[in-house]
Amino acid sequence: MSKPLPVAPHPAPHPTRHATPSLSPSLSPSISPPPSPPTSTPLTPFTSAWPYPRWIAHRGAGKLAPENTLAAFRVGASHGYRAFECDVKLSADGRPFLLHDDTLDRTTPQRGVAGELDWAQLAGLDAGSWHGRSFAGEPIPSLDAISRYCLRNGHALNIEIKSTAGSEFETGRVVAAAAATLWLGEAVPPLLSSFRPASLEGAREGAAQLPRALLLDALEPGWFDIAVRLGCVAVVTQFRLMDAGVIAQLHGQGLRALCYTVNDAADARRLLALGIDGLITDAVDRFSPAGGLID
Ligand code: G3P
Ligand code: MG
Repeated sequence: MSKPLPVAPHPAPHPTRHATPSLSPSLSPSISPPPSPPTSTPLTPFTSAWPYPRWIAHRGAGKLAPENTLAAFRVGASHGYRAFECDVKLSADGRPFLLHDDTLDRTTPQRGVAGELDWAQLAGLDAGSWHGRSFAGEPIPSLDAISRYCLRNGHALNIEIKSTAGSEFETGRVVAAAAATLWLGEAVPPLLSSFRPASLEGAREGAAQLPRALLLDALEPGWFDIAVRLGCVAVVTQFRLMDAGVIAQLHGQGLRALCYTVNDAADARRLLALGIDGLITDAVDRFSPAGGLID
């Protein structure tokens, strides 16, 4: 049992040394948001304070409850989490919904590619029984349903655009446009992230004003230039890839540094000491946003 780790206050905004897309003026609670056109928002320097909590529950809180369901979000919230990551893709009829895998096989009784079914078919599936019988009948949520839950409870959302193979750009475009409508006028917009540059290009096409983050499972040559070219406000790496040099590079250019999926206290302590801006975790029962690490 390690000592609770005090959670440091969130770092001040980093200086901006080049023009990256704005997080939008609506991020500042003191500024009332203007109507947001879905496209063609002029790029302005990213000077807003980072509005997202440092601790982010992964897939809702997708270990203690079935991932990417409302039940998982409720479990995360019950442990004090106020920010959530989830995976979003499109149904065959273009509805954004939550699911991690391409197929339904692992988390529902149905087989096959989820994106080949219409929303009406997906909405009736049991996405809870695979986890445990107490979650039997838990449905796959639409992004609409999750946005209602998050907005009503004041929770922030990181939407990972998880396209079905072959629809990377279109998924990004549609998900971003839907998110812009759902969060219109809200103080804190969702953070849109993806491993796929094409999905982030689609997101920029669908709602340029929403903040974007590049996900990385490896630091391939050119990763930083890709993030800048895509107008990202943050980079989210696999946690072992994040070190002082990467954080300095990102912070030096006004971008934020986040990591997934941090489930070990020693890893969390290392990253917090480096000044990480966000930690995506499954361990919502062991890492407390309010009280530090409690395992
Ligand atoms: O968004 C970070 C993390 O969720 C990426 O990995 O496979 O859990 O979606 P995965
Ligand atoms: Mg994810």
